[in-house]
Amino acid sequence: MRDENEKESCDCAVDADGLKVYLCARVSAYRELARGLAGPEDVVIEVGAAEGHTTGYLARRARRVIAVEKAAQCMQRARERCRAQDNIDWLEVDAHDLDAVRKAVPDGGVDLVFIDIGGSTRQWLALKLAGMYRQMFRPRVLVRPA
Ligand SMILES: C[S@@+](CC[C@H](N)C(=O)[O-])C[C@H]1O[C@@H](n2cnc3c(N)ncnc32)[C@H](O)[C@@H]1O
Repeated sequence: MRDENEKESCDCAVDADGLKVYLCARVSAYRELARGLAGPEDVVIEVGAAEGHTTGYLARRARRVIAVEKAAQCMQRARERCRAQDNIDWLEVDAHDLDAVRKAVPDGGVDLVFIDIGGSTRQWLALKLAGMYRQMFRPRVLVRPA
């Protein structure tokens, strides 16, 4: 259940291609979307898995999660946090390595992409990355920080 602040911390629009884009001002809203949007048939790419909080929410709901994180220490903690889940592909790579990510994607493609690489100075990078993931994987939903 969201409170008023939570409602205001997330914005959603459908663009001309039919892609649903959620912009989240807070990590709490981002994680709430992870709990609310993923379904049992969905394949999800999560960029910036960090210590696996959002990864866990996604993996408990989705069919498969491809968790991308470049920091080894974070990924180790994420793996530990999500050790009960056997539906996560852990990719310890830079998210710009689209080839590595593409190889982990099953035949049916990708349904949802969550991108949070953190930090306000990285927002333009996140925007560029979102464009790359959108073009390559053609998800139906994309979630990223505002
Ligand atoms: C703010 S944290 C993500 C938090 C996460 N959304 C959560 O709910 O816990 C951002 C993460 O993105 C990772 N990151 C930043 N740039 C990246 C890149 N180019 N490729 C992969 N991971 C990246 C950082 O190492 C960091 O762990």
